[in-house]
Amino acid sequence: MIFDEFSIKTLIRPVPDFPKPGVVFRDITPLFQSPRALRMVADSFIQRYVEADFSHIGALDARGFLIGSIIAYELNKPLILFRKQGKLPADVLSASYCTEYGEAYLEVHADSLCEGDSILMFDDLIATGGTLLAAAQLVRRMGARIHEAAAIIDLPELDGSRKLQDAGIPTFTLTAFA
Ligand code: PRP
Ligand code: ADE
Repeated sequence: MIFDEFSIKTLIRPVPDFPKPGVVFRDITPLFQSPRALRMVADSFIQRYVEADFSHIGALDARGFLIGSIIAYELNKPLILFRKQGKLPADVLSASYCTEYGEAYLEVHADSLCEGDSILMFDDLIATGGTLLAAAQLVRRMGARIHEAAAIIDLPELDGSRKLQDAGIPTFTLTAFA
């Protein structure tokens, strides 16, 4: 299936002033309600990464789980869940971060990755980059490295992709909203 950015974009609904005034929330639920669009998104990532050299896939709580788990299944890679505070039951590493509309802690099981592992990270969207930068700290604390950070949507005005690139983390997104 050929990737049609226009039809993907029309299935991402802008919701003004959610969750707080001034934020235009990019809602991916319509996209996930379209099997054709979801397949197009998943196939685009699979095509990009099927031959790539990385050991694990990481997915960010919660919307990153949706796409990350599809790709981990298709590429037959171990999936590491990066979760919001207090959700993972065993020993965790933790890092604080800020996003466009909040502050939180991100956690991962401390035994998830080993020195030399390389992880392909998935999320639905890159805004300020705060969440992915926190994930990168956790990955590096385990001696592993990020192969690339992939997301469906980039919000370049919030500068997250640039900050990630500056931190040595390549990014790949399928579409952007200015
Ligand atoms: C959203 C989104 C990304 C993050 C992007 O998650 O799914 O994870 O914000 O923002 P950033 O680039 O500024 O870090 P949110 O915290 O809203 O959680 P959710 O996936 O549970 O809805
Ligand atoms: N996460 C951070 N900023 C966001 C936005 N504008 N829409 C959806 N998710 C987000």
